[in-house]
Amino acid sequence: MKALILVGGFGTRLRPLTLSKPKPLVDFANKPIILHQIEALKAVGVSEVILAISYQPQVMRSALEEFEVKVGIKVTCSQEMEPLGTAGPLALAREKLIEFGEPFFVLNSDIICEYPLKEMIEFHKAHRGEASILVTKVDEPSKYGVVVLDEENGRVNSFIEKPVTFVGNKINAGIYFLNTSVLDRIQPIPTSIERELFPAIANEGKLFAMVSTGFWMDIGQPKDYLKGLRLYLDHLKRVSPEILSVGPYIIGNVLIADSAKIGEGCIIGPDVTVGPDCIIESGVRLSFCTLMKGVRVKSSAHVSGSIIGWHSTVGQSAQVSNMAVLGEDVHVSDTMFLNGVVVLPHKEIKSHFVKPEIIM
Ligand code: GDD
Ligand code: MG
Repeated sequence: MKALILVGGFGTRLRPLTLSKPKPLVDFANKPIILHQIEALKAVGVSEVILAISYQPQVMRSALEEFEVKVGIKVTCSQEMEPLGTAGPLALAREKLIEFGEPFFVLNSDIICEYPLKEMIEFHKAHRGEASILVTKVDEPSKYGVVVLDEENGRVNSFIEKPVTFVGNKINAGIYFLNTSVLDRIQPIPTSIERELFPAIANEGKLFAMVSTGFWMDIGQPKDYLKGLRLYLDHLKRVSPEILSVGPYIIGNVLIADSAKIGEGCIIGPDVTVGPDCIIESGVRLSFCTLMKGVRVKSSAHVSGSIIGWHSTVGQSAQVSNMAVLGEDVHVSDTMFLNGVVVLPHKEIKSHFVKPEIIM
């Protein structure tokens, strides 16, 4: 079985993290986002993952070689000369996708969920349509593709991308299982799977949707990234609690990489991940945040509701809170107060920022 992951797009909503790495390589719970997906695909018998890339191909390629070895799966690239949208890349990778003549998976690269892929394969076999999509319920459907379906058999009546008026709360979760015949409907030119392909297949009554009840989140923007982290850790707690950290200084769900060092008298949690090689000095308080690889948090500092990029430093007794996102290699001086700021990579912060703003 094959799978294609839509990797293109500039990931602008996840800046400044995506100024250092393409979005799929940004870590989520101490692992590149895309590795969560590749592992889930491998688990249901996918033998080759094709990455549809339109941006930073070199960086992606070297990371992929590492994943191939780690996961034991073939990972290849299909590179666009110009962005082909969400459907064009499928036509570009046509030869690879039709090789086995069997249905293949397509995934958006910025979603984290329980990946009910096995269930999708069974669902697809049962309805005998041309395409299956995973849908999930959300409170705010307007920023997604909304799917109106027949509750009895899952047949999709309409697919409306980013609707301006309310049509329903079941949205496209960004995971598809498609027959190879779908490829006959697309050319390798900029085309949208959501605005062109799915509405056309739905019109013919050949598009089916499986409703997922597990957790799901598009982590393509910081607020959702942290929400997704909370859901993911909660999921880990249910399925593999042994991976989570335990200790008198831990509150709730916390994931700390083995190589991280934690000082005396810290309080960590709930909903925190600490990446490899991080150094957390004594008396630090961390809650609802992610520290990427190599971050140093100096003594008595406080980080909450924020994302700290690779190899950054939070100074002694400093406070970083309220959806602050520090890019790679940012250094916050001692005692500074940062509220909701977005800091571009390689900056030194030597004054307080009490209001959310972008620090260039
Ligand atoms: N190769 C390639 N080329 N990939 C692309 C391109 C392109 O030109 N444009 C976008 N992508 C990739 C993105 O990297 C992402 O993985 C996926 O296609 C979807 O693009 P987003 O920019 O993340 O779209 P969205 O989040 O606004 O909406 C999509 O995802 C929602 C679920 O998270 C749609 O599929 C919605 O229908 C869906 O509900
Ligand atoms: Mg997205």
